[in-house]
Amino acid sequence: MSKQLIVALSKGRILEETLPLLADAGVEPVEDLGKSRKLLFDTNLPDVKLVVIRATDVPTYVQLGAADLGIAGKDVLLEHGAAGLYEPLDLEIARCKLMTAGIVGAEPASARRRVATKFVNIARRWYAEQGIQAEVIKLYGAMELAPLMNLADEIVDIVDTGNTLRANGMEPRELIAPVTTRLVVNKASMTMKHARIKPLLERLKQAVVARR
Ligand code: ADP
Ligand code: PRP
Ligand code: MG
Repeated sequence: MSKQLIVALSKGRILEETLPLLADAGVEPVEDLGKSRKLLFDTNLPDVKLVVIRATDVPTYVQLGAADLGIAGKDVLLEHGAAGLYEPLDLEIARCKLMTAGIVGAEPASARRRVATKFVNIARRWYAEQGIQAEVIKLYGAMELAPLMNLADEIVDIVDTGNTLRANGMEPRELIAPVTTRLVVNKASMTMKHARIKPLLERLKQAVVARR
């Protein structure tokens, strides 16, 4: 195993909040991530590199050891499953909630509930735990549209301000899980590269605490 550290970052809304935390922990990309079409970046530290990938791909990279560390939302981690990963640090950014939601005032369907979501594993598990029969329909975005188009009775999605739900005549119903962004570490890397990872973890932790 090489002594390089590869850190997988989620592109999109988490990235902007991740970079200042990494900078406070002493890791800075040598070029502007936003302005480049590149996906693999050098940093000020010769043994640390960053990859910028889809949020949903981060757990896969870390689990399989292509990256040593990763930064991803708890929603993505719950959906992917935690095998092969440690989750040692809550970065306390991109705070939101995983919730069920439906059309304002509509009674939940009495028989088999149709649930549209991109979080199919989370949804199947949650409805089963509640003892509710559910037919889970996989979508890749715009979940809020599904009940309006009578594709589904409910959705499982991220809620922050609730503006997206309100704008579409929907209301939040049940909380499935609170969500923040987490640092994950490949289990083998944590052992093999512990001397390198531990101080980085500690500096990131300090950066998180300093922001409270
Ligand atoms: P995607 O393209 O997968 O939707 P985003 O960049 O929008 O990626 O979201 C990345 C992560 O940010 C999500 O996995 C979730 O943890 C968090 N997140 C998503 N939407 C919101 C929101 N409206 N407010 C706060 N955090 C959010
Ligand atoms: C996310 C999420 C909800 C919305 C919730 O969408 O999927 O639709 O934010 O935030 P709110 O409660 O503050 O309205 P995003 O903006 O990431 O768009 P996406 O569909 O491209 O992921
Ligand atoms: Mg999004």
